[in-house]
Amino acid sequence: MKRDHFGSSFGILVAMAGSAVGLGNLWRFPYLVGTNGGAAFIILYLVLVFVLCLPLLYCEFVVGRRTQSNLVTAFSRYSPGSNWSIVGILGLLGAFFILSFYPVVGGWSIDYIVRAIGFEFKDMAAAPPAAFENMFQQTMTFSSRSLLFHFLYIVLAGLIVLAGIRDGIERYTKWMMPLLFVMVVIIAVRSLFLPGAQAGLDFLFKPNFSQITGQTFLNALGQAFFSLSIGCGSILTYASYVKRSENIIKLSSMTALTDTMFAIIAGTAIMPAVFAYGLSPGEGPGLLFAVLPRIFAEMPMGSWIAILFFFILFIAAITSSISLLEVLVSVVIEKLHWSRKKAVVLMTVLCWIVGIFSVWSTEIFDFFNNFSSNLILPLGGLLLVIYVGWIADFRIFEDEITNEGRLHFNRYYLRWVRFVIRYLAPLIIFVILLASLQ
Ligand code: PHE
Repeated sequence: MKRDHFGSSFGILVAMAGSAVGLGNLWRFPYLVGTNGGAAFIILYLVLVFVLCLPLLYCEFVVGRRTQSNLVTAFSRYSPGSNWSIVGILGLLGAFFILSFYPVVGGWSIDYIVRAIGFEFKDMAAAPPAAFENMFQQTMTFSSRSLLFHFLYIVLAGLIVLAGIRDGIERYTKWMMPLLFVMVVIIAVRSLFLPGAQAGLDFLFKPNFSQITGQTFLNALGQAFFSLSIGCGSILTYASYVKRSENIIKLSSMTALTDTMFAIIAGTAIMPAVFAYGLSPGEGPGLLFAVLPRIFAEMPMGSWIAILFFFILFIAAITSSISLLEVLVSVVIEKLHWSRKKAVVLMTVLCWIVGIFSVWSTEIFDFFNNFSSNLILPLGGLLLVIYVGWIADFRIFEDEITNEGRLHFNRYYLRWVRFVIRYLAPLIIFVILLASLQ
């Protein structure tokens, strides 16, 4: 069977950045920063992303591009004689678990776009804070409305994946991602010009290291994996549609950079506004859906900003969801020899059914959320580095990353990457995972 491919380097970059930039940046990152000590958390996060996680991104990229196959087959094809398909199966589980709660939030974003277009927040300008809490509660409640938006979201994601790599994923992310950036910068600028915005900037950028605890490490690592889409095969699967002449280090670094920049810009769009209106950043998951609408209600031009904001949230989420769906779909296509259409229908229906449980109960939602990002993704990452660094011959990695010696990188940097993959990453992930089990 002939495999589809991305049409250009830009297409690969936007697809990968689209996978990375998502609810993790807009919804998780700000509330984790808010509840984990602000700037100190950000610094820890940055170190983890560029020191530890970037080499992991290389690993996923290398395994995917080298094998040109789906997540499960990739781990038996990469190095002859080593069959580690189990890593692929774990990743499949991770992708499936994330797709069991992520579209629920995607559904909320559609719900809030509809509310914003109806100027609902403006109409609540004089309402007490509890009214906004209620609105969010209502959105989360198991009802025909929440079920409808959840369903709509999954169908949209399914339709993009159905169209394939080049005519679906690449085609849509190509305009969605640049648009996303422009929109979030507009909101950040708006937010920075609010009187009292400085306090939000201080919170984001002035570190207080006394707030860092063991739990902060775990949260930061979980967030780094989640945000960079590491550990469940999204990057690997996209990389399997990448031609051999592309530069892996460059594309991975740009993906990580785009993702991190987006998280910081999103923080700059959200925190100054939160502080300017005298609200608390430590609200947790309700920050976007209960706190921000209060701001939009009062802010001049708030209704338009609200429409823009929830549209951003929707685009960020859908470009990530399609990367997760593609992981599942490609396995079904290649392992069961199904058509893309049948595979997409099967997977979207499955994710939809399991997702209904997340709509129904916040406990189930939290379980899928925490279990996938704090356990499956780091575990997937751990097995990945052990596989690439120890089980398979490490020269395969070196060959692939330099395009068989045709690309040249700083020798010390490559040695550093090797050290991270073989020693540092397994050690740190293992310690953090162990600590989290207690
Ligand atoms: N990176 C996405 C986000 O930040 C989530 C994701 C995780 C997507 C794992 C694919 C794989 O929202």
